[in-house]
Parts: sequence; structure tokens; C-alpha cells
Amino acid sequence: MNQRDNPKPTDSPQSGSDQAHVVFTPSGKRGDFPFGTPVLDAARKLGVDLDSVCGGRGICGRCQILCSEGEFSKHGITSTQAHLTAYAEVEERYERIKGAMKTGRRLGCQAKLQGDVVIDVPEDSQVHRQVIRKAADHVDVKLDPTVRLYYVEVEQPDMHDPSGDLRRLKKALATEWGLDNLDCESNLFGNLQKILREGEWKATVAVYDPAARTADQTETSDNLTAYDKPRIISVWPGFHDRIYGVAIDVGSTTIAAHLCSLTDGEVLASSGAMNPQIRFGEDLMSRVSYVMMNPGGDTEMTNAVREAINELLVVVCTEVASTVEGHEQASINDILDLTFVANPVMHHLLLGIDPVELGGAPFALAFDESASLRAAEMGIAANLNARAYVLPCIAGHVGADTAGVMLAEQPHLLDDISLLVDVGTNAEIVLGNRERMVACSSPTGPAFEGAQISGGQRAAPGAIERIRIDPETLEPKFSVIGSELWSNDEGFEESVNNIGVTGICGSGIIEAIAEMFLAGIIDTDGVIDGAMAAKSERILADGRTFSYLLHDGDVRIIISQNDVRQIQLAKAALYAGVKLLMDRLGIEKVQRIRLAGAFGSHIDVKYAMVLGLIPDCVLEQVTSAGNAAGNGARIALMNANSRREVESLVHNVEKIETAVEPKFQEHFVLAMAFPHKSDEFTELGKVVNLPERKSTSDAGRERSRKSRRRKRAG
Ligand code: FES
Repeated sequence: MNQRDNPKPTDSPQSGSDQAHVVFTPSGKRGDFPFGTPVLDAARKLGVDLDSVCGGRGICGRCQILCSEGEFSKHGITSTQAHLTAYAEVEERYERIKGAMKTGRRLGCQAKLQGDVVIDVPEDSQVHRQVIRKAADHVDVKLDPTVRLYYVEVEQPDMHDPSGDLRRLKKALATEWGLDNLDCESNLFGNLQKILREGEWKATVAVYDPAARTADQTETSDNLTAYDKPRIISVWPGFHDRIYGVAIDVGSTTIAAHLCSLTDGEVLASSGAMNPQIRFGEDLMSRVSYVMMNPGGDTEMTNAVREAINELLVVVCTEVASTVEGHEQASINDILDLTFVANPVMHHLLLGIDPVELGGAPFALAFDESASLRAAEMGIAANLNARAYVLPCIAGHVGADTAGVMLAEQPHLLDDISLLVDVGTNAEIVLGNRERMVACSSPTGPAFEGAQISGGQRAAPGAIERIRIDPETLEPKFSVIGSELWSNDEGFEESVNNIGVTGICGSGIIEAIAEMFLAGIIDTDGVIDGAMAAKSERILADGRTFSYLLHDGDVRIIISQNDVRQIQLAKAALYAGVKLLMDRLGIEKVQRIRLAGAFGSHIDVKYAMVLGLIPDCVLEQVTSAGNAAGNGARIALMNANSRREVESLVHNVEKIETAVEPKFQEHFVLAMAFPHKSDEFTELGKVVNLPERKSTSDAGRERSRKSRRRKRAG
């Protein structure tokens, strides 16, 4: 252990015959304390991360510790068991009521020092335990929520000390927990006396304190808003140990909610629902148009999304009874904090802001900072004093959802250049590393979601999602959502009896076109080669162009020339956006690519690169970021400091407006080719046999050259 890192507490007495020397692991903090000092007290004095809600009364069980076995150099002892007081009655009572503790564990508030000891604080007893290990390896999120519980015993009123109940409650919080100068929500005044008497002067208090700040921030309580001041937001009679937070990702199509315990950071239940705003318009711009055409349409949509969120809160609270063993249904009233991510239009509608300005240049946001408010002000039906935190938007087309992706993926901590892409109707793109971050959005349109594609449909049962084409015979095989089998597997027909083969989804269309390109059906310019009709009956003449017949059944699914064109337009827009950002950073290569969102989760990254949606990169470094936006919301829920982090990140990222960048068009034209007109895809070439760059226009030029030569010769 490093003595330098663990200075002796100044108020700790020197070690002597009636002193115990205690070392805490894993922190390594150490000090000397009089015999009889509870381990919890020693931990607190040393600043050791040991949890407690009940203040050492043996009720909450959060302070569990282990006596480590092994060498302990100070007095050369090897066993520590005898150096703590014996198992106390309170611990037996705790086990009787709450069930047995893990082997060897003691309650830190009950076990007292009797000799030199090494105390291990297990991770689940640490206040700031690591709660999110997902995302990238370097992401390390510690539990440090804005709302915490404190159990107190309040002095009873006395004729000689005529102070109010609230004053005595605050005094208990100050004495027992060091919480001074707390405000209290005024709507709690009415019930406070009843609660304190019902609990026989014992109560649990929820305190909201968002004041976790990064080291370089110097905010004091004077420049915090009224919402940001530490305050009592809920009081329960007696001991209460369950409070919840909900992380919510409001997408244009779906809304996802994750119910999390604010006391241990666990995700208890997750659920999703369709965004009811779909009835006002499929995509974002049609919803903005709805507002333009229908005065009051914004309010209708705001109400619709808020109602859906309130229904989801009921669903996750109910579901927890079935998802977590021994957990009863959660109470809506115990939801005390909510965090939100959303794209700019959803963000505005959620907050009750008319999104019309986002419908046209210069795409001005009403505000681009985070929003910290009472959830009730957003019409959210949780605890009356529950807090809501909405992550900041980056720009008019780059929303709080992308801010969430950045928070979850942490590209700003790396030396490597990361490219983050969230594909939807607009692709939101972030590029950079610890030195510099740039962001833009690019108008990809809905083709990647299966819209504007002849056989396109949402990713639902019956949709073709995987395709392979034999380059010799040009025969396809495919799989559909809802069946594990390939279409040429025995039993496939039966397996899709109930769902049918109904269309092709976004990831399916990417694979179909990429496979057509690899099989030589489509050339570099995206033209379906009619000469292939001689080789396969699946190449069909379609006016002046050709189509590829993918499936012939109840529903006939073809990939038409227009489908290919739509994907080319979408992918060229995405790639051109990426190139603008690469130009801005002056780089030729990216080191890692993360594809966020549902599209990113389902797409095969190899095919995305074959088509040139994304630039060349070592294939292993191209991965799905999963639900990174939702993870960002979860991180903001679990760790107050991360809110400051994302605010600073968004503030520092350079925003680029693709619409006014003169080079966008040039990049766009070059990016229409598969995978690209001029950029080399050497990394991709190591794992995929890319067809030679040859376009129909080259072939046409070659034919005319030959014909001119023949004429001259003739
Ligand atoms: Fe609550 Fe020990 S601090 S049981």
C-alpha cells in the first residue's frame, strides 16, 4: 500500500497500546483509532468509500465489510478475526429481518475495533461503486447520483425549545450527516408533521444535490439556479431504502425507458413503446410540417409524447416485480430523478417548445444548453418533486441523443481518432479525439430505414434482414426477422408460415445491394448490369433499367435501379459528411468507428463499408455502439459529475453545417460510387474481394472508343 496516498487523519490519535491500526482495502487508507471505534466511524474519518443510509443503526445493511486474512506488517499479525468485537445483537436482528449476509461479512457500523485490522470494503458496499462497465473499456462510471437517502432520528418538540419540526429535521441532517443549509420543497410542509409523528420521529429524507463538479469548475452555491441548490425533496416516515431514477431515450420512432435503482445503480427494468407522434408524421420533418400547417400541433405532439412517457413509467414500475426476484412493484412516487436524450425536434417537443425553427435554415435551436427542472413541469407523473435533466443539444441537427452517445463512448479521452455515427433520417456524425472534436449532421433521408425502397419495411417479423448472393449463379439466400433459418435451409417455409416474407428492412437493403455489388450485378456507379440477364433470370428488364428479383412469393420483392439510387444518395450524404469532418481535422484515416442506434446494432459493418457508408478502417475497429444514446442518459442519471462532463463536451465540440460547406457537393458526387470513386479501401480489401473499379460509364466510353476505331478502320 502506498503510505503517501493514504495520509493519517489529522484528528486521529497516535497509535498506542489502546489504539488499533486499521487499513482499508482497496483504497489503502489507514489510521489509528481508540479501541471500541466502530469500523464505519473509522472509515468516515479516513474518507473511505463505505456506504450508509441509516447512519449506523444497523437497519440499512449498506456498510457491510470483510476482515481480510493475511499478513499485516505493523504488528506482524496474521489473523484479524479477534481484532473486532463479536457479532452484535443488531447484526443478528439484521440477518433475521433481511436475510443472511455473505460469509464473513460484518456490519461496519456494529463491528468495533479491538486490535489492528485490515478491512476490505466490497464493491457493493462502496458509495461510489462502478455501475456502468459497458461502452468502451475506458468508460468507468461510478455511482454518484444527484438524489440520496438519509435516515435520521429527529428531536421531539419541547416546550423549552419551541423550534419547528422542519428546523429539527434539518438539525438532525446537519448533525448526523453534515448536511448544512438545505432548502426544502415547500410542498412538503403540509405533510411533514404527520410523517414525523407516524415514523415516531424517525424519518428517511431524499436530498437532491447536483453540485458534483469537475475540478476545473469553480461554481459556488451562489451561482447555481434555484433548481440546483441542495434541497430536501421527499420525506418518508421511518426507514425507506428504495428510490429510483429513469433514463429515457426519446426517439422519433420509439421511446425507451430504463428504471434504475438510485441506491445501487442496478437497471431494474427496461421497456419501450412506439412514439405516438408517428400519427402526426413518419419522420421528423413531416412532424415539423404538421406544426406549420396546424396551429397548436406542437402542443398536441408534446402532450402525446409526455403521455407515452408516463405510461412507460407505469410499465417499468410494474415490470420490476417480475424482472427482479424478491422485488415488489416499484412506486411511481419513489421515482426521484429522470434523464432524457432526444434528437433536436424530439427534444423541443418534449420540453414544450415549438420546433418550427428547426425545419429550415439556419436550423436555430431555442436553446442549446442542458435543462435541469422539476419533472412535473414537463408533465411527467413521477414523485411531485422528482428532478428531470435533459442533456444538451449540440446543434440544430445534432441532438442530445448524440451528446448521450459522446458521453457513453468518450472519444474525447482517446488518442485514436474515433468516428461516431448515429444513422437515422439524418446521420449525426462526431469525429475526433482528446485534442479536438467536430460534429455535423448529414441529410441521409429515410432509405436506411427501409423507406423509399420498393420492398422496404420497418425491421419487424417477416422482413428480410440477411442476404447472400452466389457470384456464379446469382442465386440468393436470405433470412427474415422471426426465423433463424436461411431461405435455402430445410424447414424454412414452415418457419415463416405465420410471419411470411413481407419486405426488406434497412439492414437487409444494405446487404442486398452490397452482395449485388460483390457478385458483379451492380457496377461501381451503382448501375444494375443488364448484360447479367443472360446469366440469370433474376435480372429483369424494368423499362430502360434493370432490377434484381430477390424473392417471388405472396409478396414479390425486387431490388430496383431506383432502390440502388436511393441507397447511393443516402450513403453519399453520410460519407460526404464524414469527409467534411476529416478535412476539418486534416486527417486521411480514422482509427475506430462506432455505429450507434438500432441501425448500427443490426447492420453488418463489413457490408456498410463495402457500400462506402463509412470510410476505410481496420474492420475489427468498426463496431456497434448499441444503444449508446440511452447509455449516455443512464450515465447522466448515475453520476452527477457526468452532467458537467457532457455539458463541457458539447460546449467544446466544433459544429459544422454541411449545407453551407462548398466541398460537401464535391465529396457527395465522389461518394456516389461503390465504395467510393477515388478513396482507397485497403483495410477492407484485406478481408473482402472487392470487384475491380469499373463503371458502366467506363464500359460505355470503351464501347464508343472501339466503335470509333472500327469506323476509322472501315
Ligand atoms: Fe446502516 Fe450499518 S450503516 S446498517
